[in-house]
Amino acid sequence: MKLAVVGGSELVTLAGPARPRTGAELRELAILRDGAMLIRDGRIEKVGPRAEIAIDLDTEIIDAGGRVVMAGFVDAHTHPVFAGNRADEFEKRAEGATYQEIAAAGGGIRSTVRKTRAAGEDALVSAASRYVTWFLRNGTTTIEAKSGYGLSIDDELKLLRAIGRIAPVHAVPTFLGAHEIPDEFRGRREAYVDFVIGEMLPRAAPLAKFCDVFCEPRVFPVAEARRVLQAARERGLGLRMHADQLENGGGALLAAELGAATADHLEHSDSAAIAALARAGVQPVLLPGAVYALGSKRYPEARAMIAAGLAVVVATDFNPGSSPTPSMPMILSLAATQMKMTPAESISASTINAAYSLGLGNEIGSLEAGKRADFVIHDCADHRELAYFFGVEPARACYIDGQLRWSR
Ligand code: NIG
Ligand code: FE
Repeated sequence: MKLAVVGGSELVTLAGPARPRTGAELRELAILRDGAMLIRDGRIEKVGPRAEIAIDLDTEIIDAGGRVVMAGFVDAHTHPVFAGNRADEFEKRAEGATYQEIAAAGGGIRSTVRKTRAAGEDALVSAASRYVTWFLRNGTTTIEAKSGYGLSIDDELKLLRAIGRIAPVHAVPTFLGAHEIPDEFRGRREAYVDFVIGEMLPRAAPLAKFCDVFCEPRVFPVAEARRVLQAARERGLGLRMHADQLENGGGALLAAELGAATADHLEHSDSAAIAALARAGVQPVLLPGAVYALGSKRYPEARAMIAAGLAVVVATDFNPGSSPTPSMPMILSLAATQMKMTPAESISASTINAAYSLGLGNEIGSLEAGKRADFVIHDCADHRELAYFFGVEPARACYIDGQLRWSR
């Protein structure tokens, strides 16, 4: 199976050092204007100027027709497996209720948990398949996917098995048993943390690559988050965290202390926390969709993080409550208008840097020889249009492992 991709207005290769990009490197997309890419057996064999690429007669040619060709987006923070949705709560928030008030009254994550517990694995997979199509329409070819709407042993395992069945986008599984305290443990947080560590984690760890905790003073404060994450590390899992989303509760400092792969959200992190993340080499995963959809104005300090040398990632946080969007182009738009990141910076943050945050920097996130042929032809001629137009789904064709998996 040999393919050659030619005729792109821009072949956005993102070629560069084999590590996450920081500072001025975030703006360097290594674009080829008359480039070509050769693919063999699902892997990229060669990328270069068209004139330097020899194409054999038995190679299938894909003409990009003057459009942008880029690595698929890597969405490093999603919650894509859940039953039902929370359009009712969305309406209440439009009428003035807050996310925290709704959660305290038994709604929020716990309402999705009740519906998700009642659903079978097959029903969850078919709901997720619909969202997978949405990801593809927006040019995403790999997602990180969290459990966290089961919160019992059987239900968390059901979610992790469902995540394992997600296709054709690749899904990287994260165990999020410490997402909320379920109804039957209300008022018994310590007991629930013991249960997560002692009973759930041993069963969930073989099905996951990472462990995440919703670290917030009113949900899982730092002391409990630390216990869960240390136990997860002992079981061989990488660490990610929901940190400082609703309050500055020391979450980012804990991520730095533990040397987590990522600290996500960070809306309330201060300069000391940013400095600690920089010293520890933790990647921040910024989720402006959750700020926007909660009607907040408090976006994370992306410019300060870039200035501090952090290898910034942006992601959708796709979930039924705080961020019901699968659209990375929408996130690029918010990154530009609300966080003053340039389109090039947010493209690096949602491809190569996101790939490194998942431990997949050598596999995906750029168009370089040896990597998986996960790429997208976008219906535009200039990569900046991906962030500039909003409310459109720019992807025209998505290739995963060198195979056409979705097209208009
Ligand atoms: O990243 N805050 C915790 N987790 C999600 C929200 C999940 C939900 O509301 O269902 C988040 O914002
Ligand atoms: Fe989240």
